[in-house]
Formats: sequence, structure tokens, C-alpha cells
Amino acid sequence: MDLYEALYTTRAMRRVKPDPIPLDVQQRIMDAAVRAPSGGNQQGWRFLLVDDQATKEKLAPLYKDAVGKLWETFYAGQLAEAEARPNDPDSISFLKVQKSANWLGDHFAEVPLFLFPFTQFDPTGSSIYPAVWSAMLAARAEGIGSCITVILSFFYPNEVNEILGVPTEEGWAMQGCISLGYPTGTWGVATRRPAHEVTYRNQWATDVGFETTEPLWPPRT
Ligand SMILES: Cc1cc2nc3c(=O)[nH]c(=O)nc-3n(C[C@H](O)[C@H](O)[C@H](O)COP(=O)(O)O)c2cc1C
Repeated sequence: MDLYEALYTTRAMRRVKPDPIPLDVQQRIMDAAVRAPSGGNQQGWRFLLVDDQATKEKLAPLYKDAVGKLWETFYAGQLAEAEARPNDPDSISFLKVQKSANWLGDHFAEVPLFLFPFTQFDPTGSSIYPAVWSAMLAARAEGIGSCITVILSFFYPNEVNEILGVPTEEGWAMQGCISLGYPTGTWGVATRRPAHEVTYRNQWATDVGFETTEPLWPPRT
């Protein structure tokens, strides 16, 4: 797959089929992921793949509860605003994300595979993100949808570490939970605020020197 196609179309694909992901596909995803950079090439990471039904069923109520907490805390204001003005484009977009996030909350145990990334003694926690994104791009190349989530590590780290047998006394810290599965929908280009509106040159809030009103992929003929 063309790299730009993967970069433009790796969306948050929460709605997936229960079909299992073959082991050789998982192997290719993880082999690509560990090629990612880490600070000082320390590779202070571990990746825990969870496909055991009983384990997923233990995690599912925690995940569902965490989704609820998300709307009651971080996004409470935005949700109230979106519900008050449901026809605003921003509200439509927010409510769409909420619906999709709730789907994952309601169907967690049906998702075939989760990837839990962990770091050890990484004070910034940032060294794991290139590997996580590489895994998600490799999954995209395999036709597998993914969604990075952080709510379990935020709201229930101790409970999840206990369920997964993580040796936290050795400094291992959960950095998220990525759902993986064959999508029920289709791939599309992510809609975002244009690059020129969020990129400056040399000085804060200056013109970057280019303007892109439409995504540059797929290339126009
Ligand atoms: C660091 C990070 C944390 C995220 N946490 C969650 C989460 O806890 N739950 C969830 O459903 N989605 C989560 N997401 C997914 C975002 O909501 C999603 O990437 C965003 O809405 C853009 O989706 P799109 O690419 O389909 O447009 C997270 C994404 C990132 C990058």
C-alpha cells in the first residue's frame, strides 16, 4: 500500500467485525511496530496482545464505565454544547465521535484483538507513540481498523494492570489500549483543520507560505 494512502486513511475505526486476526498478520504488524524509533533506541517497551475472551470480558465493564466517565468529565462541556446545538457542523462531528466511542464501550468484548503498549522508566511516555502509530499503519496496510484509546489507562490503570498481570513494581506503565479488527465500514480521508492554519514559519502565528484547501491525497490528475 502507498504510504500516503495509509497516512491519509488510517482513521479511528472502532466498529469492527468479531472475525479473528490471523497470527501471521499480527506478527507482521508487531514486526513493523518494533522498527519504530525510541529515545536513545532504549526500546523500553512491551506490547501485550489480548484476544482471550475471558480476559476481554473482564476488561469490558471497566472500559464501558470509563467511556461514561469521559462524557461526565473531560467532554461534559462540549457534549452539553453539542446537544444544545445539534445541527452545528462542530456538534455533528462531536456527536458522531461520541456515538462511535460509545459503540466501542458497548461492544468491547466482541473486538477480536487489543494491543496494550507499556513503557518502562520513560518519564515523558512519548517513546511509545511512534511504535503505536506504526502498528496502526501496518494494521491499515493489512485491511485492519484500529483505534487508540487511553481511557482505561486514565481511569482504571490498577484494575487493568491486575487483570493483565503487569509487573508495575518494575516500572511498567500502560500507555493506552488499541482496538484492532476488520472494519464494518469503508476507509476515507480524515477531515482535519488545514495544515496552513495550524503551521507557522519562524515566528508564532506567522504565514507558513503554503495553503492547502483540499487534502493533497489522492493526487489530482
Ligand atoms: C492520544 C489519543 C487518545 C485517544 N483516546 C481515545 C479514547 O480513549 N477513546 C476513543 O474512543 N477514542 C480515542 N482516541 C481516538 C480519537 O477520538 C480519534 O483519533 C479522533 O476522533 C480522530 O478520528 P478520525 O481519524 O476517525 O477522524 C484517541 C486518540 C488519540 C490520538
